[in-house]
Amino acid sequence: MTRRQVLTAAAAGAALTLCGCRQQEPEEAKPELILRYAENQPEDYPTTQAALAFAGLMADQTDGRVKVAVYSGGELGAEQSVIQQMQFGGIDFARVSLSQLAEYVPALSVLQLPYLYEDASQMWRVLDGSIGDDFLAMLDEMDLVGLSWFDAGVRSFYTREKVTDLEQLQGLTLRVQESDMMSEMITDLGAEPVQVVYSQVYAALRNGQIDGAENNWPSYDAMGHYEVAPYFLQDEHTRVPEIQLASTAAIEKLEALDPSYPEVLRTCARESARTERRLWAEREARSEKELREWGVEVTTLPDAEKQKFRAAVQPLYDRFADQAELLERIKES
Ligand code: GCU
Repeated sequence: MTRRQVLTAAAAGAALTLCGCRQQEPEEAKPELILRYAENQPEDYPTTQAALAFAGLMADQTDGRVKVAVYSGGELGAEQSVIQQMQFGGIDFARVSLSQLAEYVPALSVLQLPYLYEDASQMWRVLDGSIGDDFLAMLDEMDLVGLSWFDAGVRSFYTREKVTDLEQLQGLTLRVQESDMMSEMITDLGAEPVQVVYSQVYAALRNGQIDGAENNWPSYDAMGHYEVAPYFLQDEHTRVPEIQLASTAAIEKLEALDPSYPEVLRTCARESARTERRLWAEREARSEKELREWGVEVTTLPDAEKQKFRAAVQPLYDRFADQAELLERIKES
C-alpha cells in the first residue's frame, strides 16, 4: 500500500465513522416549509420578541415541519415595501403599524384618530371586541390576513429645541409616518408635516431636516431619537395599534401541508400577541424611566392646554362624519 493509498483508506474510514455517528443521533426534524416574517424593529424590541415567540410556537405545534424565519431591523424592507411584497406572496408574515395599512383601507384610519381613546384599556376593549375583528377582516380586500393586534402604546411629540405648548409647535417641521392622515393631523396642529421612513428619522433629526417627530417611548428609545431630540412633549395624541399579518399565499402553503395548520397559525398568532402586550407594558415603563434618568426633558400638558390640541384636530373628526355611528360605539366601549 502506497502512502497515498493509506491516506485515502484512512479518510474513507473516518468518513464511515462520521456517518455511523450521525446515524446513531436522533433524527433532526427538517422543516418542510420555511416562511419569512418581516419586522422593522430591532431584535430586543417587544414586537420582535413576540415574532420569535410566534416562530417558536409554530415550530412546536407543527413538530418542526414549519419554520418561521424572523428578519428584524427592517432587513426585508420598510413597511410599505413589505406590505406590497406580501400581496405578491414574497413575504409570508409581518407586523406593521396600522397607519401604513390605512393608506390602502381608509376606513382603518378611524382606529387611529387623535385623542380617540381615554386610555389603553378602552382601546383594548375596542380591538379585542367585534369592532377589532371586523377591522382585521377588512384586510381581505388587500389580499392579506389580519391575525392579531399588537400594542404600540401612545405617541407624543419630541423635538430638537424645547417646545412646551401648542403655540410653540406652530410652523415646526415634524416627521410623520407615510400616512396622509398623520400629515393632516400635523397640519391641523399648525406645523409642517414631512413623511420620512422610520429608519431615516434619526438622521433627519440629526441633520436638522426636521425639527421633531412623534412616537411612543420604546421607539424613541430603541432608535436613539432621544439623543438628537431630547425634549419630549407628552401630549399623547394618538394610539396607533399594530397588526400581525399573513399573506394569503402563506395560508395556502400551510393548508397544503396540513389542513389543520391555518387554525394552528391563528392560535400561535393570538398567543404571541399576548406575549407582545406583556413585553410591551414592561418595555414602555422601562424606556420612559431610563430616558428620564438619562436627561430627556418631559413636558406634561395641563388639561387646558391639552384641550387646545384636541380642538385643533377637530377637522379630522369632521372628515369622518360618515362614521359617526362607529365613533359612538368606540366612545361607549
Ligand atoms: C412605531 C412602529 C413602527 C413604525 C414606527 C414609525 O415605532 O412600531 O412599525 O415604523 O412607529 O413611526 O414609522
